[in-house]
Amino acid sequence: MPALSLAPELQGLPMSQAEFRAFSALVLRSCGIRMEGLKFDLLRTRLAKRVRALKLSSFKEYYEWVCSEPSGEELERMIDVVTTHKTEFFRESGHYQELIRRLRERGQARDPQLPWRLWSAACSTGEEPYSMAMALLEGLGAGTPFKILATDISSGVVAAATRGLYTAERTSSLPLGYRDRYFQRLHPKGEATYSVGEALRETVQFSRFNLNDPDDYVFTRKFDAIFCRNVMIYFDRPTQETLVQRLSALLAPEGLLFTGFSESLIGIKQDLKTLSPSVYQKAARWETRP
Ligand SMILES: C[S@@+](CC[C@H](N)C(=O)[O-])C[C@H]1O[C@@H](n2cnc3c(N)ncnc32)[C@H](O)[C@@H]1O
Repeated sequence: MPALSLAPELQGLPMSQAEFRAFSALVLRSCGIRMEGLKFDLLRTRLAKRVRALKLSSFKEYYEWVCSEPSGEELERMIDVVTTHKTEFFRESGHYQELIRRLRERGQARDPQLPWRLWSAACSTGEEPYSMAMALLEGLGAGTPFKILATDISSGVVAAATRGLYTAERTSSLPLGYRDRYFQRLHPKGEATYSVGEALRETVQFSRFNLNDPDDYVFTRKFDAIFCRNVMIYFDRPTQETLVQRLSALLAPEGLLFTGFSESLIGIKQDLKTLSPSVYQKAARWETRP
């Protein structure tokens, strides 16, 4: 049987258990992500990219550099490589239908000029907030005002989301006709790239935001819906609980919280009503009166 060979970026780059523990603690402190247990190979492979890029010779040297580099830029790069950014347009598509159904119901007793405010709280490369915008344009009509805030801890994905350029393959999960309606095709003769059109761009605002940094929570208004999906799964229980309580405090009365399909809030202390295993609602104003 041939000997298993190491990936090129790992050759000559061993990681000790002590180094793994030090990096795990750093990742947990900076973004709340749990690395202990089975994540040794994952962390080592991802961090090796930065060790090689900086032409350092060991993880120890890299750890010292991340912790001492004064601008904090390397810490941001480290977070970029450590985080998982898997996403797609209309992922867990039932959420978009439920969002529209609930906003339509609430819209009947509401000033139609008042913009809906939504937040995609771990937006990765932008597919989620742009899907929210398409769902609202289709489901509520182009005349209904809304604003979507889209944030992520990784500055790399926030930059990519702001550029809003997607390959043909990445747009393949869009419902029929949406690509023609909401995207422009670039390079008509070369490899197809699709650029997000103006109707979506003008409704989504991107910025970097760490869900686990209390200082980032500076908001002037509450949200009608928050999508915080497929990110809590990486956090430990106390971090999840604090996060859900912070998000709940930011919801307007009857506001909705969507978590990933596999991220139930069972066992987490919070004050939201469960509409389904991954959809939660803040109480109406009259329900909270004494
Ligand atoms: C797997 S993606 C999910 C993207 C999208 N919400 C979805 O469901 O398709 C998880 C995202 O969470 C981001 N993330 C991880 N920790 C974070 C934190 N502490 N604050 C904000 N975003 C974080 C990652 O950078 C990544 O882009």
